[in-house]
Amino acid sequence: MTTDSRSYFDQIADRWDEVSRGFFSEAVREKALSLAGARAGETAADIGAGSGFITEALLVRGLQVIAVEQSRQMLRRIRDKFSDNPGLDCRQGEAENLPVDTGAVDYVFANMVLHHVESPVKAIAEMVRILNRGGTLVVTDLDEHGHSFLVEEHRDRWMGFKRTDVKRWFEAADLKNVSIEGLGETCSSESAGGNEAADIRIPLRDGRIVQEAP
Ligand SMILES: C[S@@+](CC[C@H](N)C(=O)[O-])C[C@H]1O[C@@H](n2cnc3c(N)ncnc32)[C@H](O)[C@@H]1O
Repeated sequence: MTTDSRSYFDQIADRWDEVSRGFFSEAVREKALSLAGARAGETAADIGAGSGFITEALLVRGLQVIAVEQSRQMLRRIRDKFSDNPGLDCRQGEAENLPVDTGAVDYVFANMVLHHVESPVKAIAEMVRILNRGGTLVVTDLDEHGHSFLVEEHRDRWMGFKRTDVKRWFEAADLKNVSIEGLGETCSSESAGGNEAADIRIPLRDGRIVQEAP
C-alpha cells in the first residue's frame, strides 16, 4: 500500500458507487458469485471491498462477510450502508497482510483490486492462506492493456495482467482446478481530457483448494 493509493480512495469513497457504475456493470458480481456457487450460511471475505459492491451481493445471498479495506473512508461507507446486517464484519487492513485467520473462510473475492496492490503475488498468497480446505478464490480484474491514463488518473499500479501470469501465481499459491475465463464484461473509462477511452476485457480467474484426504 502507498499513502497515495489510500488517500486517492479515501477521497473518492463517497462517490465510488456512482463512479464505479460507469466502469463496470452489476453483471460482473453476479457472474463472479454464480461461478463460485456461494450459498447462504457460508463465509466469504471481500478483499479491497471498496464501498461494498461484492459485499452487498454476498449479504443479499445470506453469507457472512468479512470486508477488508485499506481505506478508512471506504470502510465508513460500507458500515453506513450495511451496519444493520449482523452478517457483516469490517476490517481495516492490507491485501498483502490480511487481518483474517488462516483457513477462516469458504470464499475469497477480489474485484478490481489486484491491479492496485504493490505485490499481486503476495496478495494472492494471503487470499489463499485465509481459505479453508475446499475453499474458492475468485478474482475479477483487467486484462493487460496500454492505457497509461488509468495509472496517472486512477492510481492503478499495474496495467492489467497477462492471463498466463495470473494462472502461474494461482498455481504457485497451491490452488488446484484453476480456471481463467472471459467474463464477457469490460471495464470502461475515459481520460480526463476525453481524448482516450479504455474498454478493457475482464477475465475471471478462480481456483480451489482441493480437499485433502483425512
Ligand atoms: C478499484 S477499487 C474496487 C473496489 C471494490 N472491490 C469494487 O468492486 O467496487 C479498489 C479498492 O481496493 C482497495 N485497495 C487497494 N490496494 C489495497 C491493498 N493493498 N489492500 C487493501 N485494499 C486495497 C482500494 O482502497 C479500493 O477501495
